[in-house]
Amino acid sequence: MIVSSTSDYRKVAQRKLPRFLFDYIDGGANAEDTLQANVADLRAVNLKQRVLKNVCGLNLATEWFGERSALPVILGPVGLSGMFARRGEVQAARAAATKGVPYVLSTLSICSLEEVAAGCPSPIWFQLYVLKDRGFMQSMLERAQNAGVNILVFTVDLPVHGSRYRDAQSGLSGPFAGARRMLQAMTKPGWTLNVGLRGRPHDLGNVSKYLGKATGLQDYTGWLRKNIDPSISWSDLEWIRDFWKGPLILKGILDPEDARDAVRFGANGIVVSNHGGRQLDGALSTVKALPPIADATGSDLEVFVDSGVRSGLDVVRMLALGAKGVLLGRAAAYALAAAGEAGVENMLELFAKDMRVAMTLTGVSSIAQIERAILA
Ligand code: GLV
Repeated sequence: MIVSSTSDYRKVAQRKLPRFLFDYIDGGANAEDTLQANVADLRAVNLKQRVLKNVCGLNLATEWFGERSALPVILGPVGLSGMFARRGEVQAARAAATKGVPYVLSTLSICSLEEVAAGCPSPIWFQLYVLKDRGFMQSMLERAQNAGVNILVFTVDLPVHGSRYRDAQSGLSGPFAGARRMLQAMTKPGWTLNVGLRGRPHDLGNVSKYLGKATGLQDYTGWLRKNIDPSISWSDLEWIRDFWKGPLILKGILDPEDARDAVRFGANGIVVSNHGGRQLDGALSTVKALPPIADATGSDLEVFVDSGVRSGLDVVRMLALGAKGVLLGRAAAYALAAAGEAGVENMLELFAKDMRVAMTLTGVSSIAQIERAILA
């Protein structure tokens, strides 16, 4: 199959992965309305075509916190990526490094921080949840520092786990989950051999140590449910700010008032995110939430965004609406499942190609020139 878009990678991923994994990537909360609105609202943003503007020498590079990125995109944190491809987090991080963009490792990865840092030629970013066990959080931060992580992404929109109907239906959770997953794996022998058998261990690499026993997929949702902390408030975050001296990004902001609180709290960046439509169904799509947040925070914060971005065109739309960088979740997960490291590299090339077309035809030659004026 010739792959020229995220939706092509999605189809290949669906063919290769056992259902519980494809649905974990692909699904969202409840009726998946916000998941769909993320994509649909973004695609409804029109770009203004301009011609004869002499746009040779396009430059797609940008910079955050003094670090250059070859594209205004970041591979966002995706749990369980090591189940999508063999040692998947290492493959995705290497692809990001090859293409000169950052990779954010999820706390709930299969490969540990140390394994990914050792396998990747550039420093990685690390994502942490607000968890009840502050000792765990502190030791994760220490491990991240020791592994050379310089930028921390702190996810704040998971004080409770979203209702993901597909996960229960597919066997990621729910009754007889293990047996159902085994049956699904039998229908995907390529995955079973490459990832299921040769890609072991399938522990949650960052977490298993602390549980004092082997942790596998069955523990994923259980551990998350037990450890996420619904009592969290801004004041509880202060110790993180005290502890983590490097750039700190809060992921999961959807309201301008929360964005202003993030500035007060001392965050260096935020990710405008509804967690890819996986948490509060009915929440605003990020493309709608973004402009008032960008206006409210001005230059006090780096404003990133995710959710619904499926092409380089979408990246240009998000930048035009005020984002300084875009995190990719599903787009990278599908490509990783479909074709491993090479798939993620190719996906980033496809994004760059679409961005070049969009920039040329809207008459801009650098990332800094992408602003609301290019919207129709
Ligand atoms: C975890 O962050 C998830 O969305 O599954």
